[in-house]
Amino acid sequence: MQTIKKIVIAIDGFSSCGKSTLAKELAKELNYIFIDSGAMYRGVTLFALQRNLITKNKIDRQTIIKSLEQVELSFLLNQETKSPELHLNGVNIAKEIRSPRVASYVSQVATIREVREKMVADQRKMGQNGGIVMDGRDISSVVFPNAELKLFITAEIDERVQRRYNELIENGISTTKKEVKTNLVERDQMDSSREESPLIQVADAIVIDNTNLSKSEQSALVLSLVKQKIEVESK
Ligand code: DC
Repeated sequence: MQTIKKIVIAIDGFSSCGKSTLAKELAKELNYIFIDSGAMYRGVTLFALQRNLITKNKIDRQTIIKSLEQVELSFLLNQETKSPELHLNGVNIAKEIRSPRVASYVSQVATIREVREKMVADQRKMGQNGGIVMDGRDISSVVFPNAELKLFITAEIDERVQRRYNELIENGISTTKKEVKTNLVERDQMDSSREESPLIQVADAIVIDNTNLSKSEQSALVLSLVKQKIEVESK
């Protein structure tokens, strides 16, 4: 009997390109685990904010590093929405990590090498049996360099701003498009120029520009790529 191999799907790209939406959809279709790795960096940032390790002018990197052993992040399935939600030391923080305050510091926290080492170790554990879709910035390059399918997602900046703005407003967070654009541009810049595991497009990634694609068009396109890969891998 032929067994169908469960592959690893790595999705990278700039902020607000719809990576998580795509990853979630794929995981649902394929019955895979979905991990939003950005949520984990947001979780550490929220932890640091709660402990006053981040103030307007300073990020206390040393204390954040020392406190990392007190950070326990886990994804638990919301039984109603069937979506995994991030918990920090047992408390659901799915909503709080989306706040503009967390968004404005997360890229800086994500430059801390020790934070990245802890996140990457946890992420690899989650993916050790395959059957996972993970999105982020360094998934193809660092977390799963041997992933069977690597996607690099892009979209034009104004389209990304509009999408993030709509998402924040829908969640009751008041903001302006200007504020959203400033944050996205800053984060893209920081994420792709940092020393530790910057966002890069690896040579074997398939690039998808979804500016003019609907969610269902994009899902259909990617699902056909996944099916081809699974067939090859299962032979
Ligand atoms: O995907 P996101 O916007 O929720 O990610 C939040 C931040 O976390 C992003 O600005 C960069 C960082 N990040 C990272 O450095 N590496 C990842 N694998 C995922 C996110």
